[in-house]
Amino acid sequence: MPKQPDNTIALLREYESRNITFIDPAGDWPIVWTKAKGVYVRDTNGKRYLDLTSAFGVANTGHANPRVVKAGQKQMATLCHAMGDVHPHPLKGQLARELSRITFERWLRTRGKTIFCNSGFEAVEAALKTAFLATGRKGIIAFESGYHGLGYGALNATHRGMFRNPFREQIGNFGQWVPFPTIPGELRKTKSAIRSAFQSQSIGAILAEPIQGRGGIRVSHPDFFPWLRRECDRYGSLLILDEIYTGFGRTGKWFASEHNRVVPDLVCVGKALTGGFPLSACIGRNDLMDKAWPASDGEAIHTSTFLGHPVGCAMALANIAELKNQKLVNQTVRTGKHLEKLLRAIAVPNGFRIFHRGFGLMQGLALEYLDGAPATRECIDIMKRMLRRGFILLPEGDYGNVIGIIPPLTITLPQLKTAVRALALEIESLKP
Ligand SMILES: Cc1ncc(COP(=O)(O)O)c(C=O)c1O
Repeated sequence: MPKQPDNTIALLREYESRNITFIDPAGDWPIVWTKAKGVYVRDTNGKRYLDLTSAFGVANTGHANPRVVKAGQKQMATLCHAMGDVHPHPLKGQLARELSRITFERWLRTRGKTIFCNSGFEAVEAALKTAFLATGRKGIIAFESGYHGLGYGALNATHRGMFRNPFREQIGNFGQWVPFPTIPGELRKTKSAIRSAFQSQSIGAILAEPIQGRGGIRVSHPDFFPWLRRECDRYGSLLILDEIYTGFGRTGKWFASEHNRVVPDLVCVGKALTGGFPLSACIGRNDLMDKAWPASDGEAIHTSTFLGHPVGCAMALANIAELKNQKLVNQTVRTGKHLEKLLRAIAVPNGFRIFHRGFGLMQGLALEYLDGAPATRECIDIMKRMLRRGFILLPEGDYGNVIGIIPPLTITLPQLKTAVRALALEIESLKP
């Protein structure tokens, strides 16, 4: 029987809300995924693509990692759902202990306590609630270009106006933004803005990504986070680090904050925690969590139906074991160095400037015109042409002019070389 043409795009046009899946009228975006394994994805036409996004930074141990899938399947067949804050299942306790071990027990030799959530923004909101309960202070400081998800709580910290403006009247407005300092001039400005907010307002927490991901793979000035840690301590404010994008080996450390040896009070994780199941977590220092959250008298004040889902917990435990057993964090240091060398060797075409950003397997190339304006159109064109060539990429940054290279940590050097060779051909053929 002849194969029916795939009608996914037509169905989405008819039945999915507008403003979700972007469907290019030219018909060359998106592709419809049917399978993914390791670094490769297949579409409905059977065409193979090399995924340089890890599907939003989720597939750190590779798509459908066999040991992670097996753990999820086994759990699904045994216990597919339990009762979040009421009757737990064994893996919830085991994963909470594992998260404590890989965070606060490594950093401070003290226990961490976890609130499980479903998506990344919920983990951020759990951290914001914790900070308010612990400090009694309403205000938070976040960073320009920062991204923390799109729930009504998280929107107080996510910076980009396009996400917040349509809902501005309904958002609590307890957040404010200061520049994310990447160079000395910005560092001075940010220090002074933070200090003056601490001195004049009631600030319970500072919320930051150690490296801004969706903001364009922006790495802070090396002095910034150590200063921020000291300043938070000085003013009794909490430091919340959002490691949702940067966690689980992505940058060549378990967590990106380890590059600066800065220990947060609360850390948010999601995305690559499970390798492909919606589970996230807010982990806090034991004493702080106990100070913030009262003992339950039977009704939790923060929970959800799927809290600590058994399948997600099984996959997360297998995924963390896989990162350890395959030594993927150390491997990322090496692969990241090769990637940087390859990216820096790309010739800059006439009429453009290119800036390399990031490290580990979270790197990007910012594309600008000679006057410093973002080359957004060219960047989007490159993504589309790369897709045609069989490579999946996404634009990052407020202006969508940063080509992010965020592949599974399992990617090999030959695979990286093939990808960067194709990218170089596209970049080098840009016309001013
Ligand atoms: C740093 C960071 N925080 C939070 C989020 C939100 O996560 P989610 O989309 O799972 O709600 C994202 C998503 O890209 C992110 O990159």
